[in-house]
Amino acid sequence: MGGARDAGWVAAGLVLGAGACYCIYWLTRGPRRARRRLRPSRSAEDLTDGPYDAVLNAEQLEKLLYLLESTDDPIIVEKALVTLGNNAAFSTNQAIIRELGGIPIVANKINSPNQSIKEKALNALNNLSVNVENQVKIKVYVQRVCEDVFADPLNSAVQLAGLRLLTNMTVTNNYQHLLSSYITGLLHLLLTGNGSTKVQVLKLLLNLSENPDMTEGLLSAQVDASFLSLYDGRITSEILLRALTLFQNLNNCLRVEGCLAAQLPFAKGSLFSLLYGEDCAQKMRALAHHHDADVKEKALAILPKF
Ligand SMILES: *[C@@H]1O[C@H](CO)[C@@H](O)[C@H](O)[C@H]1NC(C)=O
Ligand SMILES: *[C@@H]1O[C@H](CO)[C@@H](O)[C@H](O)[C@H]1NC(C)=O
Ligand SMILES: *[C@@H]1O[C@H](CO)[C@@H](O)[C@H](O)[C@H]1NC(C)=O
Ligand SMILES: *[C@@H]1O[C@H](CO)[C@@H](O)[C@H](O)[C@H]1NC(C)=O
Ligand SMILES: *[C@@H]1O[C@H](CO)[C@@H](O)[C@H](O)[C@H]1NC(C)=O
Repeated sequence: MGGARDAGWVAAGLVLGAGACYCIYWLTRGPRRARRRLRPSRSAEDLTDGPYDAVLNAEQLEKLLYLLESTDDPIIVEKALVTLGNNAAFSTNQAIIRELGGIPIVANKINSPNQSIKEKALNALNNLSVNVENQVKIKVYVQRVCEDVFADPLNSAVQLAGLRLLTNMTVTNNYQHLLSSYITGLLHLLLTGNGSTKVQVLKLLLNLSENPDMTEGLLSAQVDASFLSLYDGRITSEILLRALTLFQNLNNCLRVEGCLAAQLPFAKGSLFSLLYGEDCAQKMRALAHHHDADVKEKALAILPKF
């Protein structure tokens, strides 16, 4: 990465005061012209490096956060968010950005009416969320992100970015309860979304389904009968396998809880009544002859539960 070498000019650009103008210049115009002005004799290879992958130090990150907080120019906001997001791919920077109070500054941009800016803010938060201590700060935005995900245009980039952030926030059991009241909405999104949306919602639901504390909420959620179409043999394996794993995880959690599935009092129209009904049993019997060995294996493991 040309980042270290570029740090010099980035630093020059980020010096505030007189440098603030330059910083804006750098973010708006990209590094090529800026660098040429500063150092006329860089090689052509250097000139193809974008500014986004420059690894910034704490002082530079602080200035970038200040810029993000103080400008209204959407182009600069977007570039600052992308640069911060890329820097948040490095664990030291994840901690530095948190210590500088950067998480609320980035998160504030998820309120932007501009979908492109909102998406970049969600992406940056997603990279920041890989760090456990950062998750403590990000958790306060989880419910807002849930509500946004349902309001976003279906299958949009911004919706997918929100779903990815929620998935990362549910890799541990710590914050899963924050999603409890959104399970019906997520199941609806699972059925209405296209393939990319379905896969991302399934990743999220799979995380929830491994947690016995979430089992009741999942199984009692009301869901359209078309849910069972996820278990059609012609559904792509990427989705089918995840849908089967979801069922297996729920079975396992019921076993952990010591419950007999058939004795649980779940309402008509609940996920429970669909999964443990005769229509679903039929689907599993059909999948036991599926051409994909993994699908077949999972269906065979589930069949005795009926
Ligand atoms: C949204 O932001 C992008 C840059 O990030 C800009 O190009 C676009 O014009 C903005 N849209 C609106 C409606 O302001
Ligand atoms: C986030 O991190 C990944 C690597 O983990 C990186 O590829 C990506 O560019 C980073 N930036 C954003 C904005 O997601
Ligand atoms: C969390 O998000 C990051 C960045 O998008 C990604 O690289 C990482 O794989 C995700 N972690 C998990 C466990 O999904
Ligand atoms: C889902 O829709 C989005 C937005 O229209 C599109 O970019 C994406 O490729 C679609 N995914 C699939 C698997 O069709
Ligand atoms: C959540 O899913 C990710 C992969 O998408 C996985 O690495 C992680 O272990 C899962 N966490 C839980 C609690 O199921």
